[in-house]
Amino acid sequence: MAYTVMMVFGTRPEAIKMAPLAQVLRQWPDVELNICSTGQHREMLQQVLKDFGLSVDEDLHVMTQNQTLNGLSQQLLEQLDATYTRIKPDIVLVHGDTTTSFIAALAAFNRQIPIGHVEAGLRTGNLKAPWPEEANRRLTGVIADLHFPPTNRARDNLLREGVVLENIEVTGNTVIDALLWMREYLNKSHWRPAPDSPLAQLRDDQRMVLITGHRRENFGQGFERICLALAELALRYPDVQFVYPVHLNPQVQKAVYGLLSHQSNILLIAPQDYQHFVWLMDRAYLILTDSGGVQEEAPALGKPLLVLRKVTERPSVLEGGTVKLVGTLTERIVKETSLLLDDADVYKRMSRVFSPYGDGHASERIAERLSRWLEENARERDDS
Ligand code: UD1
Ligand code: UDP
Repeated sequence: MAYTVMMVFGTRPEAIKMAPLAQVLRQWPDVELNICSTGQHREMLQQVLKDFGLSVDEDLHVMTQNQTLNGLSQQLLEQLDATYTRIKPDIVLVHGDTTTSFIAALAAFNRQIPIGHVEAGLRTGNLKAPWPEEANRRLTGVIADLHFPPTNRARDNLLREGVVLENIEVTGNTVIDALLWMREYLNKSHWRPAPDSPLAQLRDDQRMVLITGHRRENFGQGFERICLALAELALRYPDVQFVYPVHLNPQVQKAVYGLLSHQSNILLIAPQDYQHFVWLMDRAYLILTDSGGVQEEAPALGKPLLVLRKVTERPSVLEGGTVKLVGTLTERIVKETSLLLDDADVYKRMSRVFSPYGDGHASERIAERLSRWLEENARERDDS
């Protein structure tokens, strides 16, 4: 008997992290996979689909410029409801903590369609940081039927909130599946950026600091302080190349291009596809980010990472000593980055491979548990 599994994603990180699972499920016996892109992101999602050779079955094209959370949610709820009604999936898989994730889960819940939550159980304990993601993942956790936390710590968060153990499968994080796959491809093919890529100008003999940032709670003063820190660091270290692929959110574009365009050793570039970005991470001397996914990837590549946030939902990475939470105060960012650039011993201590998020086989574990659940669920339905 074939089961219809509908996978819903809408943003760049969801697509990167669901792509390896989609590749496994496409080959899985008895599963008919239907991929629904909500299109919460447009260009940044297209890049991922191309990187992984992934085609979508449903595309809802919801993105509008400078979208609001409520405007986006309204669009998603309406369109997902119509899609579920037409496709009638046996289960809907959502990922993580975006507006797409929570609304896709809510729309399924309202139609009494079971929900599987990939990357479940991450918590900061602070509803305002990251905002709105902490609420999205908690709310999704309340209505999901099957939970796939990456670590035991994330599983324990779910248990504390009353989720029963038999509905939880600890799997590792699929981002490591994606990362290892991409890195192997880059290494095997001796991949280099094309001559017309802005990355072609990077010199092998120059240290490179890679930066990303896009958190909503950092908009305004937080972003300004981060940009001021980068401007000061660029002046202080003229021999270091700073590279910042700037997220397409207009709020981010305005702040970053407004404050950093004039500095000759800061390269501001468009968001990079996953090939280029993994190549950049692998080549970076150190990385500064407020991203969730980059917190998982940088330690797995052995890169020192400074996290531009006050709290993290990924405390496991802090235990390896290769990741430091530095917040968004200009002085602290300058101080911690300078320390890594100036002190070879500190740098060495923070550049070790540390990967608490798994071994690159998370997707297979999810597929196995999912497949057992589908059979058990069908049997229970037949019995009743
Ligand atoms: C979203 C997620 C965030 C996730 C991030 C990953 C929510 C509320 N936020 O934040 O959890 O960490 O994605 O990057 O779900 N835009 C484009 N093209 C794109 C993508 C975005 O032009 O390909 C612009 C649009 O003007 C859009 C705006 O960015 O309205 C904001 O996009 P949105 O998905 O709402 O928020 P993000 O900041 O990207
Ligand atoms: N990433 C990418 N290109 C970029 C910047 C990031 O492919 O220019 C990847 C990165 O490797 C990680 C994911 O995008 O896998 C993280 O996405 P983002 O930071 O937008 O979202 P978050 O993880 O914070 O939700």
